[in-house]
Amino acid sequence: MQLIDKYHRKFEYLRLSITDECNFKCNYCLPDGYQRTHQKQFLSQNEIQNLINAFAELGTSKVRITGGEPSLRKDFPNIIEQIATTDGIKKVVTTTNGFNLSKHAEHWFEAGLSAINVSIDSLDANTFNLITGKNIFHKVMEGVDACITAGFEQVKVNSVLMKGLNDNDLSTFLAWIKQQPIQLRFIELMQTDDNAEFFNRYHLSGQSIKDVLLSQQWVQKNRHANDGPAEVFFHPDYLGEIGLIMPYSKDFCDNCNRLRVSAVGRLHLCLFGEDGVDLRHLLQNSADKAELKSTILAALKEKKSSHFLDLGLTGGTPHLASIGG
Ligand code: GTP
Ligand code: 5AD
Ligand code: SF4
Repeated sequence: MQLIDKYHRKFEYLRLSITDECNFKCNYCLPDGYQRTHQKQFLSQNEIQNLINAFAELGTSKVRITGGEPSLRKDFPNIIEQIATTDGIKKVVTTTNGFNLSKHAEHWFEAGLSAINVSIDSLDANTFNLITGKNIFHKVMEGVDACITAGFEQVKVNSVLMKGLNDNDLSTFLAWIKQQPIQLRFIELMQTDDNAEFFNRYHLSGQSIKDVLLSQQWVQKNRHANDGPAEVFFHPDYLGEIGLIMPYSKDFCDNCNRLRVSAVGRLHLCLFGEDGVDLRHLLQNSADKAELKSTILAALKEKKSSHFLDLGLTGGTPHLASIGG
């Protein structure tokens, strides 16, 4: 029993959101900040353990803990540790807005976290503040240094480049990674259910960034099976690499290698356009593991070859804070 779909894609990578909450107000994600509309109970450590046990038995070896901002949960280090010590799980990684990094990166490393992705949309403090609504650019940059010092096997930085907002930062970003062993990923702005106007105004195609890179002697790396959807580029004069995440490019979904579970226990087969399958009632008791596994396998049979088939080029996703990006 393995997580392989009818298009022969293998899903050894689970993205688990542990909270919707976020303390940033990124203009493309939560411009009005996190709204607590009703009291949501996020998955408990016990529910998480039952979930991970089942996924691990189905061949999941990498788990990314996401949010919202995962480190807002007080039990974040315990969650890292419990997932990292589950049989079959080889890698536990996270994606963070960087708020708690400078203080806790080392602690998370000790708990068993092996790699970290940090969102940094600009290297200019004012622009960073404008996009995220948080005036803590320098603290986040200290956090990146703390990750490199702590010894994580990989540190990636995510940046959403937007027309007229931070696209001028491209050259500053490139200069930065000349001496930094970081994979800097440019994520093409995605349309969500509630950002259509924003999307139309600021969307910048990933292809235009790719064109700039190719004109500056960046070389695209060969892809390996299960590499995931980012296209990666290197340059002999640079210590860092560039990754391009272009969800609107034609073949993006061919390399899909991940499944998602939301902070309330719904399995999502894609970031785009589906409601997900409720798993939570099967997470209460470890004795339900067999049923949980068969529910996951049955759901995977419905995974589409590509999100374009469902929605066309401009389809939206719920805002990414709710299903962990
Ligand atoms: P690695 O495990 O290091 O490859 O990272 P990752 O790209 O899976 O993780 P990260 O959380 O840093 O992802 C960055 C962002 O890329 C996500 O939050 C999404 O915005 C986007 N992204 C990642 N995977 C997908 C995907 O399968 N589909 C779409 N449409 N976007 C994705
Ligand atoms: N489009 C593209 N990327 C997004 N992210 C959040 N919302 C969007 C969106 N609408 C990214 C953040 C972060 C990652 C978790 O998801 O920048 O790096
Ligand atoms: Fe928070 Fe991430 Fe959304 Fe920014 S993109 S508001 S950091 S969840």
